[in-house]
Amino acid sequence: MARRKAERADPDAAEPPRGALTIRPVRRGDLDAVITIDTQVTGLEKRDYWRSVYRRYGASASGAGAQFLVAEAAGEVVGFIIGEVRDWEFGAPPCGWVFAIDVRPEARLTGIGTRLLQSICADFRRAGVRKVRTMLASDNTLILSFFRSQGMMAGRFIPLEMDLEG
Ligand SMILES: CC(C)(COP(=O)(O)OP(=O)(O)OC[C@H]1O[C@@H](n2cnc3c(N)ncnc32)[C@H](O)[C@@H]1OP(=O)(O)O)[C@@H](O)C(=O)NCCC(=O)NCCS
Repeated sequence: MARRKAERADPDAAEPPRGALTIRPVRRGDLDAVITIDTQVTGLEKRDYWRSVYRRYGASASGAGAQFLVAEAAGEVVGFIIGEVRDWEFGAPPCGWVFAIDVRPEARLTGIGTRLLQSICADFRRAGVRKVRTMLASDNTLILSFFRSQGMMAGRFIPLEMDLEG
């Protein structure tokens, strides 16, 4: 069976394939770039939301297993990924959840998304978990193609939702 792409390389041990690309924990000074990328991708600027995400998942976040990583090339933030180890939610043993991944449109298809996912998976492994999960909109074929290319498959959980009146 083919090894999953996100597990093919240990990003800490391997020489970066594209010398200039660094994956590192987010810093406060990266927030403007993160907000710009998210605004480009979603069309909605959410400054307060991103400040709160930084507090929850940034380097000084107290929760073990919280990860907010950025990809930096030539001094510019070109992408980011956010995730966390969650214990026993939905009755599942501890696993890594990826909540968000975005790469600047003009920097895509050069392996940055793959490097970001490899890095967060390495962090999850160091935290002791052996499963990674994510959730995506069923009509977002781009993100589905990406995660499938990394070896992620439909899991045993299904999302349910309903509208609340009033
Ligand atoms: C999905 C995303 C993170 C991929 O980043 P990337 O840096 O371009 O990814 P990579 O270059 O590492 O691509 C890895 C693989 O993903 C798949 N892939 C990436 N972009 C693709 C596309 N446009 N069409 C089809 N497959 C694609 C390919 O299999 C690719 O491997 P290949 O280049 O060997 O064919 C990026 O396109 C993105 O940020 N999209 C918007 C994400 C989004 O909607 N976020 C909001 C919800 S969290």
